[in-house]
Amino acid sequence: PNGCPSPALGLGPSYRPESEKPTATVSRAVDQSNVHILSQTPQLIALLTMIRDKDTQRADFIFYSNRIIRLLVEEGLNHLPVVPHTVTSPVGKDYTGVKFEGKICGVSIMRAGESMEQGLRECCRSVRIGKILIQRNEETSLPKLFYEKLPADIADRWVLLLDPMLATGGSAIMAVEVLKGKGVPEERILFLNLIASPEGIKNFAEKVPKVRVVTAFVDQGLDEKNYIVPGLGDFGDRFYTF
Ligand code: PRP
Ligand code: URA
Repeated sequence: PNGCPSPALGLGPSYRPESEKPTATVSRAVDQSNVHILSQTPQLIALLTMIRDKDTQRADFIFYSNRIIRLLVEEGLNHLPVVPHTVTSPVGKDYTGVKFEGKICGVSIMRAGESMEQGLRECCRSVRIGKILIQRNEETSLPKLFYEKLPADIADRWVLLLDPMLATGGSAIMAVEVLKGKGVPEERILFLNLIASPEGIKNFAEKVPKVRVVTAFVDQGLDEKNYIVPGLGDFGDRFYTF
């Protein structure tokens, strides 16, 4: 991990005096303007505390991860443009609002990214979903592309790219390159992520600077095996097989 200490904040409702708020480690801030970190609320920190715990069993890991994923999807959708839209209410009055007008699709980086598909479907009912299978080599940490299957008209869509872990950034960068190869401009890709390392964020922003990132937390760093620290271990294993 790099030497910069993680910020600790007193968390809890505003009606509580500072002295009664427990101190928790919150996400680091980052320099990259295209990276949006979820608001570090008491709920988000409590959910992350659950899934980081090595003693949290699989059913709870899935349940609490799903709650964070839902927050990421809802926030991610806020980063898509909207157009004016006025409706008439049942009492005959107009309400001036907005609606989303583009087409979207999800693309999950398998295996772990598939865990985020359900949260996306809960918000976008019949969303099309593409898949990219990229696996990190356990020795070298280098990503390898095995398979991709994407909607035929993906170049006309906004793409919500899904992967809960951004460690070195290699897998996510490779996935973005696949999408760019299909004609999707970086500006129309939104990467949704649970936990990122500062190294991964930097690498990603250097290689694909126009992709927007929405993440729940930027952690301390990487260990010698390129696992995120403190992190939560292997997300795919904990969600699917442990
Ligand atoms: C994990 C994770 C990311 C990648 C992050 O997947 O889900 O895809 O590693 O690491 P990186 O930023 O250094 O590339 P993994 O390859 O372990 O496969 P899995 O999804 O099957 O667990
Ligand atoms: N993949 C994971 O699931 N966890 C890490 O910490 C790094 C890569």
